[in-house]
Amino acid sequence: MKSFMIQGARILATGSAVPNSRLNNNQVSQIVQTSDEWIFSRTGIKERRLLTGDNQSIVDLAALASTKALNSTLLQASDIDLIILATSSPNDLFGSASQVQAKIGAKNAVAFDLTAACSGFVLGLVTAYQFLCSGSYRNILVIGADVLSKWTDWSDRSTCILFGDGAGAVIIQSCSKKENSILGFQLNTDGSYANHLSISYQQEVNAHPILNLYQGSFKYISMNGKEVYKFAVSQVPLSILKCLKSLNISVNDIDWLLLHQANERILNVVAEKLSISSTKIIANLNKYGNTSAASIPLALDEAIKENKISDNDIIVISGFGAGLTWGTVVLKWSSILLK
Ligand code: COA
Repeated sequence: MKSFMIQGARILATGSAVPNSRLNNNQVSQIVQTSDEWIFSRTGIKERRLLTGDNQSIVDLAALASTKALNSTLLQASDIDLIILATSSPNDLFGSASQVQAKIGAKNAVAFDLTAACSGFVLGLVTAYQFLCSGSYRNILVIGADVLSKWTDWSDRSTCILFGDGAGAVIIQSCSKKENSILGFQLNTDGSYANHLSISYQQEVNAHPILNLYQGSFKYISMNGKEVYKFAVSQVPLSILKCLKSLNISVNDIDWLLLHQANERILNVVAEKLSISSTKIIANLNKYGNTSAASIPLALDEAIKENKISDNDIIVISGFGAGLTWGTVVLKWSSILLK
């Protein structure tokens, strides 16, 4: 979809945070029947970070990533108008964004959670873009943070090998149309395949004796790996192509392909299908596994810190996952040194 609005938006800064505790594939093989060779050859993952202990939460990770992003700008926390926390593993089902707001001292910011699993960051970025283009807000903090280790069945070898915990944040600011760096986006949902990947609510067998009310709780991640794999490698290239076409940008113009870090094979197949050189793929999932909504901003932050990305580079970002949801955002990078 093309934007017909009058203003633009640019990414001012990025930040990320991961827990200190590492779990490598050999350690996973002491918990379930698997091996480093099996995990690495099928996913590209070597290790992941886990939020262990009882004194840290997703709010701490999200706040740390946000503070790092803020500290690389001249902005104060009080300059942030809106915080969007993309997460599927909040501290509180009523929302955790307000806890992040309080923790970083963004006292003027409205804050809300956005739930769209591994596409959460892409949807958060596009949502922020709307508020900026319409002139409603000037500075927005978009965070992708997840601690799926808390929702993983650690006796299920088909899922527990994949996920890790982390947070990534970007600060986006409104700007003139000329300086706009979010060139366009393309978003999709297909709820008829929701059962392929879910953390579903399961009600108890017995109802409340007087109210006939069934209560329950959320269970662990359940996934049909083969179907999710097929969905990703078929739908993500189509979303990218649709988005590029709407912007009149050729695949050859892409400098970087930044996909949700689910599986190295998915990254490679999508790049192959689009005839994009593997040297243009941004990947760090060998170190962190699939960190869900955090994976894209975490990889973006690392790529920027490693000076991979130059001014005017075209970055194609795609998220995909539970819902099923998937979508693409095309960025033209411009580094704005505010500090
Ligand atoms: N270690 C060793 N063996 C395992 C295993 C593990 N961790 N997990 C499954 N296996 C076994 C299976 O039991 C099966 O054995 P069988 O042939 O005797 O029945 C065999 O390995 C093949 O299992 P299968 O599920 O077909 O493996 P796969 O090649 O499809 O790979 C995934 C599994 C999960 C790596 C792959 O399907 C995948 O990456 N899917 C996408 C998942 C994803 O990215 N989800 C998040 C999206 S946001």
